[in-house]
Amino acid sequence: MMEVVIVPDAGAGGELIAEAIAALVARKPEALLGVATGSTPLPIYRALAARVSAGTLDVDRLRVCQLDEYVGLPAGHPESYRSVIHREVLEPLGLGLDSFLGPDGTSEDIPAACAEYDAALASAGGVDLQILGIGTDGHIGFNEPCSSLASRTRIKTLTPQTREDNARFFDSLDEVPHHVITQGIGTILEARHLVLLATGAGKAEAVAATVEGPLAALVPASALQLHPHATIVVDEAAAAQL
Ligand code: GLP
Repeated sequence: MMEVVIVPDAGAGGELIAEAIAALVARKPEALLGVATGSTPLPIYRALAARVSAGTLDVDRLRVCQLDEYVGLPAGHPESYRSVIHREVLEPLGLGLDSFLGPDGTSEDIPAACAEYDAALASAGGVDLQILGIGTDGHIGFNEPCSSLASRTRIKTLTPQTREDNARFFDSLDEVPHHVITQGIGTILEARHLVLLATGAGKAEAVAATVEGPLAALVPASALQLHPHATIVVDEAAAAQL
């Protein structure tokens, strides 16, 4: 079942989702939280960190896992998603590497790294709550349009549009990797609760196609229609075409 919650702005969306994560942690302190990168989820991480520093949320046993990763950036590159998650999520929450699961984008054998990551997620008991953003073309993780709805963690090639969208994090478009590892759509759908946050007018078209359009590989996020517990949190601007 898909529920849509419209909030006034990105900050309110972050608070709402942080509240859901706090409720999960209260129920299951060792929960596995799937995190997304990009600008959209940052208010969630800030709201969680504020609760931790206020002493109202204890995440000592929380485990965090990664949705997707660039291939070929050197280990420790500040824009590798592993580095971003350390900076934006783990450090502010006071968590260390032992709480973290992610695919190895520097591996010599990427297909093996993908299979290992899928297996690691399963042996960790599966993802309890997966935070998702959405690309302007409707992608989730790095599952670009026409990705198989049953796909597993694998290597993908980015579309020119996604490389341009993500170029703002790099010095130039040339530095944006062409290849990525992403949890597949089938992998993502195995999380017990999917929470997609979309904010800003640039996401309105993708949100409408996700929520009201037909289930279609052309709009990877529409796969959330298949999930028993998917929550779409949108601000007024991203809800404009609903
Ligand atoms: C990247 C990430 C996605 C993210 C998307 C949107 O492509 N792989 O997980 O949802 O960007 O990013 P933003 O939230 O910055 O618009």
